[in-house]
Amino acid sequence: MKIAVLGAAGQLGRDLCPRLAALGEVVPLSRADIDLAKPDTIAPAVTALRPDVFVNCAAYNFVDKAETEMDAVGAVNAGGVADLARHCRDIGAKLVHFSTDYAFGRDHARIIPYTEIDEPAPVNYYAACKLDGETGVLSARNHLVLRTCGLYGVWGSGGKGGNFVETMLRLGASGKPLRVVNDQRCTPSYTADVAAATVQLLERGATGLFHVVNSGDCTWYEFAAEIFRQAGLNPDLIPITSAEFGAAAKRPAYSVLSTAKLTSVGVPALRPWPDALAAYLTERRNKPA
Ligand SMILES: NC(=O)c1ccc[n+]([C@@H]2O[C@H](COP(=O)([O-])OP(=O)(O)OC[C@H]3O[C@@H](n4cnc5c(N)ncnc54)[C@H](OP(=O)(O)O)[C@@H]3O)[C@@H](O)[C@H]2O)c1
Repeated sequence: MKIAVLGAAGQLGRDLCPRLAALGEVVPLSRADIDLAKPDTIAPAVTALRPDVFVNCAAYNFVDKAETEMDAVGAVNAGGVADLARHCRDIGAKLVHFSTDYAFGRDHARIIPYTEIDEPAPVNYYAACKLDGETGVLSARNHLVLRTCGLYGVWGSGGKGGNFVETMLRLGASGKPLRVVNDQRCTPSYTADVAAATVQLLERGATGLFHVVNSGDCTWYEFAAEIFRQAGLNPDLIPITSAEFGAAAKRPAYSVLSTAKLTSVGVPALRPWPDALAAYLTERRNKPA
């Protein structure tokens, strides 16, 4: 089996490629091979490669900048993804694509995890485009869309300069007070665990939409507190509201995802988020420089 991976150098892509190698030949791809913002780069590369499976880890991921860079985020996360889905369908390749918990958020009273059949209702432009991308992928046959959340992996997200855990560790060691939002509840997820579940879904021949996140939920403040507890740091950590933080893009107050569908096809639930965080901290300590 030939598996092409776009965004192979991103934090999820880096964790996925070695795990996908258990299923077949992995061809890592970068923006130089396919630029999702440039439609004319997609068909020639897909046709020349003719993979059995195409895994798309690439995305425009700047949630706040997306509010003003509307053309850029739309071209990559909606138009480019829909084109990719069409070309994969035309050559009979299965497309595996990643989406976001930010598909939800307008239900302010929500307190139970969202399932795959809940109606999406995004609150920012990044998420609206990711949702258009999902629709583009799901309307083609034999494809798999995995919604995940708050990714952190040892390779970090290049464009964002790391990930939330790394940012907290850096700021926590600076000695300055740290203000973190305490009114957004979700499930930050470890890319190693999401990658392992992705491989298991492929092994089971799954198609359609699945939620893939670690177990449990927390606010970003609670996540930061656990990061510092596990890392043995004790910074002045202050809970604030999203309004006090004042980000350009709105975020959901509650975007916890149910993984009942994932477990119903035989993929074990991902470990609880504090255990995943512990595994991440161990992996980063042991990572070669
Ligand atoms: N990060 C999160 O917290 C989070 C949460 C929910 C869902 N997701 C989804 O999970 C997936 C993986 O995210 P991640 O955190 O691993 O992302 P990441 O580390 O930021 O990596 C994204 C990759 O996409 C590539 N890329 C960006 N624009 C591109 C374009 N126009 N054409 C081709 N490649 C392009 C980047 O390449 P360059 O290095 O060349 O820019 C990079 O390799 C994405 O679909 C994302 O939307 C992420």
